[in-house]
Amino acid sequence: YAFPLLSFFAGAKVPTSFPPESLDEVAFVGRSNVGKSSLINSLAESSVVRTSDKPGLTQQINFFNVGKLFHMIDMPGYGFAFVDEAERETWRELMEEYITRRETLKRVYVVLDARHGVKVADTEFFRMLNSKKTKFQIVLTKCDLLKLPELAKRIVTIEDHLKPLRNAVKDVVVVSSKTDAGINQFRKEMLFLTGH
Ligand code: GTP
Ligand code: MG
Repeated sequence: YAFPLLSFFAGAKVPTSFPPESLDEVAFVGRSNVGKSSLINSLAESSVVRTSDKPGLTQQINFFNVGKLFHMIDMPGYGFAFVDEAERETWRELMEEYITRRETLKRVYVVLDARHGVKVADTEFFRMLNSKKTKFQIVLTKCDLLKLPELAKRIVTIEDHLKPLRNAVKDVVVVSSKTDAGINQFRKEMLFLTGH
């Protein structure tokens, strides 16, 4: 499976800058530095999305066209300790606005770093998504950095966290943006989800 050319078409720091709804959308959220932007690049075989080894790089909601098929949305990281409380609150509100308002939003992918698993900021975000009746699915990335038995344990723990959450998709997506493990299967699922 291959995605058509990825192109940036809008960035929003406030809800009034959200582009009009058109194609189906999937959004990537997660703590800072887990690898959200890298994942979008891997899926699209692109280097259009900026990535960094320092947390806090993505500072607005970025909208990308996957050709004319659907949109992939890159979100700022949550739970980032180095920005002040007021700024963190502004981003949280921005993300919540996007998630609640967007009727074209098909699914939220919550990206977790395989080394770190589920942190407090993640469980809070799971609860928020669940209460807003947003379908969300966990994507475990950087799986190249774990040995198979550790990875298996991580997945079991994540599944336990998801059990009480009605709007969580039970299957965990396991990928690496570095080795491309799992990426092709993930492309297939995303194409299916967006009706292609
Ligand atoms: P913010 O925009 O700050 O929220 O971060 P982000 O979640 O978008 O992370 P980003 O994609 O910028 O990647 C963070 C760091 O993790 C970079 O140094 C990437 O090279 C690295 N990285 C991302 N995915 C993988 C992966 O699958 N494996 C490995 N080994 N490193 C990865
Ligand atoms: Mg980013």
